[in-house]
Amino acid sequence: MKFWTKKRIIGYIYCENKFRDDEKLFIKLARKKHVKLVMFNIAKELDEKEIEKKAKKCEIIFNNSAEEFAWEFVKTLEQLGKKVIDSSKTYYFTEDKWIFALACKEHDIPTPETILLSENLNIAKRELHEFNHWPVVLKRIQGTCGEYVARAENIEQAEEIINKFWQKGSERLAIIAQEFISSPCYRVTIVGDEIVQTAIKNGRSWKKTGIYAKNIERFEIDPHLKAMIDKIIKVSKIHICGIDFVKKGDEWLVLEVNSTPAFDFFDEEREMIIGKVLNLLLREIQ
Ligand SMILES: Nc1ncnc2c1ncn2[C@@H]1O[C@H](COP(=O)(O)OP(=O)(O)O)[C@@H](O)[C@H]1O
Ligand SMILES: [Mg+2]
Repeated sequence: MKFWTKKRIIGYIYCENKFRDDEKLFIKLARKKHVKLVMFNIAKELDEKEIEKKAKKCEIIFNNSAEEFAWEFVKTLEQLGKKVIDSSKTYYFTEDKWIFALACKEHDIPTPETILLSENLNIAKRELHEFNHWPVVLKRIQGTCGEYVARAENIEQAEEIINKFWQKGSERLAIIAQEFISSPCYRVTIVGDEIVQTAIKNGRSWKKTGIYAKNIERFEIDPHLKAMIDKIIKVSKIHICGIDFVKKGDEWLVLEVNSTPAFDFFDEEREMIIGKVLNLLLREIQ
């Protein structure tokens, strides 16, 4: 008598016109591990019946699209009873910079001093005056790639920035004010509870986001930072993420947790990370 181990079936969400290196590597590694993949390309037409049929086959689904549009798709699959990594519940922390700052405060995780500004501009100006951190960093509670992040030297500049944020976006989203920390940005990529990559994002601009960052290097995780990372993972319950830190003197402060992080800070490590993602997904199948 012969025994066959059942082939695992994993769903994969992406949003592209063609496969990126992430998809190509995922497919390659899945084949090696005898995992069957069901691809969901949300850039293509979405047919409800078809999605349901495909979703039914999957034992777990991995969202590798950072598009905001993907959130709705993840929730749709969850409504169909599917387990998605990462769960839409984690958005509560990752997609709202104010809630993240509050959650950190509650759990004694150091962050830059932060306040939520009033939607009334005159009150917001008074709040900034009382906050009294200059320069101050202003951020829309939602945003990526530093698009809604700006620095003001004084109240006049702050007013200009707030007006600009509100005119630019289609929505008048809430804005936070944050103490400015002069520091490189330290990215830690997490898969499961493992630190799989570190990268210092540096550059001439004070904003060290992916597109502006230059001279990316690895860095050592000290015990203090490790303890903070463990706490952040526990609180956010996120499985795969990129955590951004800054350093104020000797003190680590967390800036934000990014879901669906980039795996390409060092191209030669991409396959290793995607392999770890695949192993995590296999472990998470109940
Ligand atoms: N309080 C701050 N002090 C100094 N630099 C900051 C601060 N907040 C953000 N930055 C810089 O701006 C970049 C983008 O800010 P972030 O909060 O990560 O927004 P986004 O979600 O748009 O990436 C960060 O990577 C960091 O370099
Ligand atoms: Mg960021």
